[in-house]
Amino acid sequence: MINVDENTITAAVLEQQANCPNPRLKQIMTSLICHLHDFAREVRLTEGEWEQGIDFLTRVGHITDDKRQEFILLSDTLGLTMLVNAQNNQKPPQCTESTIFGPFFVENAPLFENGGDITNGARGEPCRVSGSVRGLDGQGIPHAEVQVWQCDEDGFYDVQYPELDQAQCRGQLATATDGSFSFHSVLAQAYPIPHDGPVGQMLELLGRHPWRPAHLHFMIKAPGYQTLITHIFRDGDPYLESDAVFGVRSSLIADWKQIPGTGSDSGTATCHELNVDIVLNPVSATTTRNNHKTLEATP
Ligand code: BEZ
Ligand code: FE
Repeated sequence: MINVDENTITAAVLEQQANCPNPRLKQIMTSLICHLHDFAREVRLTEGEWEQGIDFLTRVGHITDDKRQEFILLSDTLGLTMLVNAQNNQKPPQCTESTIFGPFFVENAPLFENGGDITNGARGEPCRVSGSVRGLDGQGIPHAEVQVWQCDEDGFYDVQYPELDQAQCRGQLATATDGSFSFHSVLAQAYPIPHDGPVGQMLELLGRHPWRPAHLHFMIKAPGYQTLITHIFRDGDPYLESDAVFGVRSSLIADWKQIPGTGSDSGTATCHELNVDIVLNPVSATTTRNNHKTLEATP
């Protein structure tokens, strides 16, 4: 097609991909092109604004490397990550809900026995976490893999300290035969997402803050169950209602109890206790279809 104008350009692009052999890719790209063109028409995008957008995406690309993923941070802050999470993780209401993964998970975290201390020198008020991993029938799931990671009292994860070469406040353990688990750590605090790059500038220009409410990350795996990636949030945190990445679910907010007789009044370090009861969703025909990449070229 020649002589395209602002109304015929959409059909012209769709015509050129009419023979796409992958129906899912064709569906996604058709919708993307239609929405992108409608967006530009709706806001009457100027050439200067288009250039600013390209410059922004270029800066997002330049700051991205194997340690920092600014594109995912952009998706997180635009609500796209949680939208995709929500529409792909529907399950029975008794099951523990999933939420955003975040950039601070590390493979092969140190292994701990139940009751172990994952702190490894991180600063913070002591906190004991205990809980259980169960199925929908309420039975404890033995030997489930429980991975946990969190920030220290300054709101930083171990991987954010360039000089630190050991894991702190992260680890993996297995549930006991009755599905229970426990470990010692420090009290997680609210922290800002990395905001020294283009996504941080975007938040500032939009009058948004970069903070996440205090939380503990979990990834739980057990044969026959869907892997669960979730957080437990601290009740009372001022950022629960305005999480910069929209990850809070009311079912994931828990009371982190302060143990009486600890803290400044008594002259001892404040101790906290958290109980987490996790319910996993069994794998079914519908759930196994999720989370597979569908856009690769067919061989
Ligand atoms: C996190 O909770 O670790 C996180 C999630 C999304 C963006 C940044 C951090
Ligand atoms: Fe986090």
